[in-house]
Amino acid sequence: MLERQMILKWLNKSLSFSALILLGLTATLLISIPAISQPGDTTLRNLAQEQNIYIGAAVSIKALRNDPNYREVLTREFNMVTPENVMKFKPIHPERDRYDFTAANEIVTFAKANQMQIRGHTLVWHRSLPDWLTETEWTREELIEILRRHIFTVVSHYRGEIYAWDVINEAVGGKDSLRKTIWQQVIGSDYVELAFRWAHEADPNALLFYNDYGGEGLGEKSDAIYAFVKDLLEKDVPIHGVGLQMHKSIKNPPKPEDVATNIKRLEELGLEVHITEMDVQIHNGTGTEEDRLVKQAKVYQDMLGVCLKAPNCTAFVTWGFTDKFTWIPGFVGQPDLPLIFDKSYRPKPAYHTLIEVLSTANN
Ligand code: XIL
Repeated sequence: MLERQMILKWLNKSLSFSALILLGLTATLLISIPAISQPGDTTLRNLAQEQNIYIGAAVSIKALRNDPNYREVLTREFNMVTPENVMKFKPIHPERDRYDFTAANEIVTFAKANQMQIRGHTLVWHRSLPDWLTETEWTREELIEILRRHIFTVVSHYRGEIYAWDVINEAVGGKDSLRKTIWQQVIGSDYVELAFRWAHEADPNALLFYNDYGGEGLGEKSDAIYAFVKDLLEKDVPIHGVGLQMHKSIKNPPKPEDVATNIKRLEELGLEVHITEMDVQIHNGTGTEEDRLVKQAKVYQDMLGVCLKAPNCTAFVTWGFTDKFTWIPGFVGQPDLPLIFDKSYRPKPAYHTLIEVLSTANN
């Protein structure tokens, strides 16, 4: 009897103990779940929408899958995404007769569920190519057929779902010349127009972009890009815009007036401009980290300011958004903090200047 009572008592005690734990857990959860952003909140996304511009970020599939904070900030602050890697040739077309849309589909589903536009990146590039493609000697006809099928398969798979495709990435070499890639060497320079025409056929509603780095302001590269797209337009190639990647550092910030002039001359050709991959390195600057973050904020502020003033600049996309996930340290071999949120998702000075630019745009 006593034994039974003791067991009951113990049960009772442990039950109320578990109830307490449960209560505590629920309370912590409630406190730690960030409030879902409302239409009137001061977020990049809401302010950008009022300015009729898309604000986006490149998305890492790993971070998206594993980090709830990443998803929360991404959907709160942005209304456009670019898959950082998973739509590139190698991951999406790993074998000659096999495509793998798994990861790319996840990003597309996520974006659609959160009313975000998608920039498809990228159909034709000289990097991220699978071995099956680079380790065989193809005839011109064979490679044309491979590229045609690749573009038709990938673009048709996402037909109606991709706002803009980076059809060709980083193809312009020096003055009047194309980079010597497998595409240029085996097919010839007309691979460019073929790619645009196939992409257009596969999804007539997607905007088609040429995307490159180092041609944001004025200079040899942006002149070459300008001549390149002008020539395509003269040949009636369906190209709708130019992507200015904007991988920059506080040491070589582009001159805002040069970027404005460049965007303007593209407008005169009837082309849209997207800032497609902005990040701003600080490791090679001078001053304390705090000073450098302020300089970084100024570069972001200037570039968004230029874009907002240009009627044909319709999207502003950063290459990631948190310093927790950025390609820069791997690329330059140095630690860096190139984005607008810190590693703990706290907004940096750059974030605040972007908010300020968007809030004061009409004044
Ligand atoms: C980079 C990714 O961020 C890295 O994760 C990857 O290892 C290499 O490619 N220009 C582009 C992007 O168009 O696709 C590149 O992305 C960065 C430079």
